[in-house]
Amino acid sequence: MLSIILAAGKGTRMKSQLPKPLHKVGGRTLLEHALASTSGIAVGPQVVVVGPGMERVAELAKTALQDTAQPGPAVYVQHDQRGTADAVLAAREALATQPESDVIVLFCDTPLLRPETLSRMREALVRGANIAVLAFEAEDPAGYGRILRDATGGVRAIREHRDATPEEQEIRLCNGGVMAFSCPDLLGLLDRITDDNAKREFYLTDAIEIALGDGLRVEAVTCPEEEVMGINDRTQLAEAEAVFQARARVAAMQNGATLIAPGTVWFSFDTRIGQDVTIEPNVFFGPGVEIADGATVRANCHFEHAKVGPGAIVGPFARLRPGAVLSAGVHIGNFVEVKNLEMGEGAKANHLAYLGDGSVGAGANIGAGTIFCNYDGVNKHRTVVEEGAFVGSNSSLVAPVKVGAGAYIGSGSVITRDIAPGDLAIERSEQKTIPGWAARKKNAPKA
Ligand code: UD1
Ligand code: MG
Repeated sequence: MLSIILAAGKGTRMKSQLPKPLHKVGGRTLLEHALASTSGIAVGPQVVVVGPGMERVAELAKTALQDTAQPGPAVYVQHDQRGTADAVLAAREALATQPESDVIVLFCDTPLLRPETLSRMREALVRGANIAVLAFEAEDPAGYGRILRDATGGVRAIREHRDATPEEQEIRLCNGGVMAFSCPDLLGLLDRITDDNAKREFYLTDAIEIALGDGLRVEAVTCPEEEVMGINDRTQLAEAEAVFQARARVAAMQNGATLIAPGTVWFSFDTRIGQDVTIEPNVFFGPGVEIADGATVRANCHFEHAKVGPGAIVGPFARLRPGAVLSAGVHIGNFVEVKNLEMGEGAKANHLAYLGDGSVGAGANIGAGTIFCNYDGVNKHRTVVEEGAFVGSNSSLVAPVKVGAGAYIGSGSVITRDIAPGDLAIERSEQKTIPGWAARKKNAPKA
C-alpha cells in the first residue's frame, strides 16, 4: 500500500514563519505523526506532497523515521494549491510506477489518528471496497465535507460544505479526510475530477461519485471526532496537545505507573515509563526519555533525552538533560542538573550540583554544590569520577580531570589535576584561627 500525505497547504492561520507540518504535538512534528501513523500499519512506500518553498518540510520528510526499516518517503511538490485531488496528482509519478498498489491518502494536520483506525480502512479494502472513506459524527459539521447516503445507507457522495444545500448542511456525518483506494485505474479516475465547484478546486472527494458511476464499491469507516481533529491554528494545536497528553497519561497509568496528579505531568510521543514508577506532580518529559521500573520522579522535574534506571530517585526540582544516564538506585536530588553523563549504580548527587560531560562511578557520592567545570570557553571536556569516590561539598572539578576510585576531595576544593585512587586531594588555603579576636573587635574604642 502506498501512503500519500498531503502537506502542501499554506497553513496561514497558524500565523507562523514555520510551515504547519513542522509544528509539534507531544514533542513531535505533525509531519512525523502522519508518517508514523501509516508506518504503524506497515503500509509500505510513503509519499509526502509539499508546497513550493517548503524545503524544510521536504528535508525533514527525508530524514524522519530513519531508524525504521522502511526507505525514506519520496517528496513531491504541488506548485499551485488547486485542491486535494490535484495534490494527490502531484505524486502522479509514484502512482504511475506502482499502478497495482492500494493507496491511502491522509492529511498532515491530523496527528491524533490511531493506527488501528487506518488498519480498519485497509480491512475495508480487503473486504472488497474500492474506496474507503473515514467518517465521523461532527459536533459542529460546519466546514466539513458531508457524507451523503443512498436509501440503503451506502455512501453516495461527499458534498463539500460550500457546495451543500441547506438540507445537506444538516447532515452531521462528515469526511474525516482519510481516503483509501483499491481501484483498477486510480490515475484515470483522479484525472476525471474537475474543478466545477464553489471553490474551483479539484476535490479528492469527487472520486466517490465517479467511482460509483464506474460500478465500484465505496465504504465508510467511522471513528470518533477526536481522532480527525485537524490543526489549523494555535488554539487547535493546543486542543490536540491536550488530547495527546490525556491519552499519554492514561497509557502510562495502564502500564502500571502511579501519577499522583496526572493533569500536571507532560509526556512526549516516545516517553517510556516502566511499572511501579511513581511520578509526583509537575513533571515534564521532553523527547527521548526512559524511566525504568520502580523509579520515583519527585515533584517539579524536567527531562530530555535521558534514562533513569530501576529504583532510582530523581528530584524534587531536578533537571536531566540530553545524555543523562542513571543506573539502578541512583539518587539525584533537588537543584541538580545532569547532562551527557553516566552515573553508576547507587551513585548519589543529592543537592545543588552541575554534572556535565563525564561519568560518575558506582557508589560515588557527589557533595552539595559540586560543579563539573566542563567548558573552557572554547571546548567541552570530560570529568571522570571513579567508583566509590567522595567529592566534598562546594568543589569545582575543572575538566579534563579524573578522580580515582575511592579517592576523597576535601570540601571547597578547585581540582585541576588527576587524583589517584584512594588519595585525598584538598585545595584551599589553610585555616587560620585567632583566639579571642571577636571580643577584642567588639570592645575596641569606636573610631
Ligand atoms: C477536506 C475535505 C473535506 C473534509 C475535511 C476534513 C476535500 C475536498 N475536502 O476539506 O471533505 O471534511 O478535509 O478536515 O478533500 N492540501 C494540499 N494541496 C491543496 C489543498 C489541500 O496539499 O491544493 C492539503 C492541505 O495541506 C491539508 C489537506 O490537504 O493538509 C486538506 O486541505 P484543506 O484545504 O484543509 O481541506 P478542507 O477544506 O478542510
Ligand atoms: Mg482542513
